[in-house]
Amino acid sequence: MQTDELVKRALEAQRRSYSPYSSFAVGAALLAQNGDIFSGCNVENVSFGLTICAERACVVSAVSAGRRDFEAILLVADTPDPIVPCGACRQFLAEFNPELMVFSRRRDGEVFEYRLSDLLPKPRQGILET
Ligand code: THU
Repeated sequence: MQTDELVKRALEAQRRSYSPYSSFAVGAALLAQNGDIFSGCNVENVSFGLTICAERACVVSAVSAGRRDFEAILLVADTPDPIVPCGACRQFLAEFNPELMVFSRRRDGEVFEYRLSDLLPKPRQGILET
């Protein structure tokens, strides 16, 4: 899959990250079936547990725009190793597509590819048929 546009959108979102407590900026870009892309960044809170990860931010944006047909998500972070979604985000993503492709771009620009079903093999299933 061509990931250039997803990388561009995720990097733009990463620049908008609100992460004053961790100083760890994450950007995400979610690809819907017709090629539409929804982006998101992590949004932290002084009550740390309220923090919203970039993955969930872009899913909320897409669903709010009427979309649920997700094919892939791409993450960017300035880390030497590619990041992978936390457990909560894996479950949140699986609600809409347990077979979602997960791309992750590390600091040097290399993009790694995972399948959500490998990261979360037995998700609690949502009501949507897959
Ligand atoms: N974070 C994400 O947004 N996505 C990930 O995949 C890893 C972690 C955020 C949560 C928190 O704001 C910061 O990164 C440090 O964990």
